[in-house]
Amino acid sequence: MYMITRKDFLKKSSMIAVGGLLIPSFLRADNSTPKIFGNKEFKPLVSGKPLVIATWDNRKATEAAMNKMKSAGTDLQSGTSLDAVEAGARVPEADPEDHSVGYGGYPDRDGFVTLDACIMDEKGNAGSVTFLQNIMHPVSVARKVMEKTPHVMLSGDGAYQFAIEQGFKKENLLTEKSRLAWEDWKKKNNYIPVGEKNHDTIGILAIDERNNISGACTTSGWAFKMHGRVGDSPILGAGMYVDNEVGGACATGTGEFVMKTLGSFLCVELMRNGRTPQEAVEEAIHRIVKRYDYKDIQVGYLAINKKGEHGAYSIKPGFVYALNQNGENRKLDAESFVK
Ligand code: GLY
Repeated sequence: MYMITRKDFLKKSSMIAVGGLLIPSFLRADNSTPKIFGNKEFKPLVSGKPLVIATWDNRKATEAAMNKMKSAGTDLQSGTSLDAVEAGARVPEADPEDHSVGYGGYPDRDGFVTLDACIMDEKGNAGSVTFLQNIMHPVSVARKVMEKTPHVMLSGDGAYQFAIEQGFKKENLLTEKSRLAWEDWKKKNNYIPVGEKNHDTIGILAIDERNNISGACTTSGWAFKMHGRVGDSPILGAGMYVDNEVGGACATGTGEFVMKTLGSFLCVELMRNGRTPQEAVEEAIHRIVKRYDYKDIQVGYLAINKKGEHGAYSIKPGFVYALNQNGENRKLDAESFVK
């Protein structure tokens, strides 16, 4: 288990004086090999940008995101990390076989597919939608909220009306397979939302060649949840958070516990204070397991910093993630608190 002493903390977050200015440690040029606590397969890389990382085996998403960044022109508008995370998130949103995101997502206990998503760019701009129905790409609606409105979050009917005004199509997102799974759930359960399964939200983070970080998160949420339930994914700082000075983080799993600990914001702030991404995600998981009964839940975090290092950690074994970096698009296993 990772522990940090006050002495370590002060050392890691120390400031150095350069030309009379105090420079925080994370802004210093540092060519030393970063310490990686988690994944044994992962070879530490100091450079390695552009980079895309996504929760679960979303390699198709990290590939789409990386392709977007590779298509960057000389203008500053194309091939950004923002375009990348949106393109990546749209892959599982359109996949009827992914039952945790978008089209084909499992419905709530009353049979409605309700979607949550958010997006954030390197300037700190952000958009989010919650409880959105009948629109296949909530991440793109979230981006429109960010770019076309003075608001950050739109919800339910308002989000839907806005999406239609912006040219999105009304679609039935409940596939026959998901409808049958819901019918089966109703037979076996007493209308009570249970279980840690089917929270396989996609959180995705990218750093582009201009060294800018963006993130997105999109989900159909807890399978067979109560009607009206909103999870962590559209909540900035919970499901995802980016600060371009420091790094980004995103979450998957039982959103109630991510919201109660504001996990993604926590990871970014820990990195701001000198922690590596791996140290940050481990601490964010410890905050959950110290306070809550984690027997029936799973949460996984990913984090990246400006050096292109990443961290991945979950409460229980089984959390995998996709990393596209240095020409390789890999599926990796995260370390976990419970072995
Ligand atoms: N992490 C997704 C959710 O709980 O809705």
